[in-house]
Amino acid sequence: AQFQTLIVEAPESAPGVTLIRLNRPEALNALNTALLGELAQALAAAQADDSVGCIVLTGSAKAFAAGADIKEMSDKTYAQMFKADFFTAGARAIEQCRKPIIAAVAGYALGGGCELAMMCDFILAADTAKFGQPEINLGVAPGIGGTQRLTRFVGKSKAMDMILTGRMMGAEEAERSGLVSRIFPADSLVDETLAIAAKIAGQSPLAVAMNKELVEAAYETTLTTGVALERRLFHSLFAFEDQKEGMTAFVEKRKPLFKGA
Ligand code: HXC
Repeated sequence: AQFQTLIVEAPESAPGVTLIRLNRPEALNALNTALLGELAQALAAAQADDSVGCIVLTGSAKAFAAGADIKEMSDKTYAQMFKADFFTAGARAIEQCRKPIIAAVAGYALGGGCELAMMCDFILAADTAKFGQPEINLGVAPGIGGTQRLTRFVGKSKAMDMILTGRMMGAEEAERSGLVSRIFPADSLVDETLAIAAKIAGQSPLAVAMNKELVEAAYETTLTTGVALERRLFHSLFAFEDQKEGMTAFVEKRKPLFKGA
């Protein structure tokens, strides 16, 4: 598909990976209805394509995304926001994708941009990354999960600090606080992320999907229920040929060749 607000690639260097670049340079990749609609389409296509094992979402060197598009939102009424269920459809498409999505963040990830990164499965950051929820400065609040997800990532004290002051935090603070899993120099961020994504894409897609589901469950449920679900899915993985292949390959001291069966 041809997109107006995204560039979607299958990089040769990273077999099994779909690279999605947000591409509204004139607005620092601000998220509007068109962009989120296209993102939903691109993710659905990656989900439906058996050759895709992992998705990377990135922006430009200057901005992952500088928030929801303020110019699109500014004149909207409550009735319009409510009727459109503003941005819920776009957010759901990300939440519902069963393949892993890695956010590769360089530059600004503000407001909806920070929320978008947090909807991904994990965040890799350039040393130039700046995260923030500055909605308070506009007289509003985060609207696609920021108050909930940031608090789960970094704890109440830092989430309150970030959300009530609207300040930005740099890559080091974000890594120290658990928002970001690793930091890379800005000019190698995308290549490093693609290598990590290719590694995931080389695993059993069935095991990857179940592992993703299990970590997500840790966010939503009690320890006892989560551990019980893990045990069930762990046992069920023995129904797949990929389990036999993975363990046989280890014993035979060779690389496994997973088939997703
Ligand atoms: C619309 C935006 C934008 C945004 C930047 N631009 N952010 N347009 N929505 N969120 C546009 C600018 O208007 C400008 O276009 C161009 O991008 C370049 O931005 P500058 O401000 O000139 O760049 P710079 O001086 O380098 O400052 C970068 C910045 C600043 C610090 C990131 O742009 C900024 O503060 N942006 C807004 C950040 C923000 O408040 N985000 C939260 C949005 S609310 P022109 O044409 O004027 O040159 C939100 C709610 C989520 O996200 C809830 C969803 C339901």
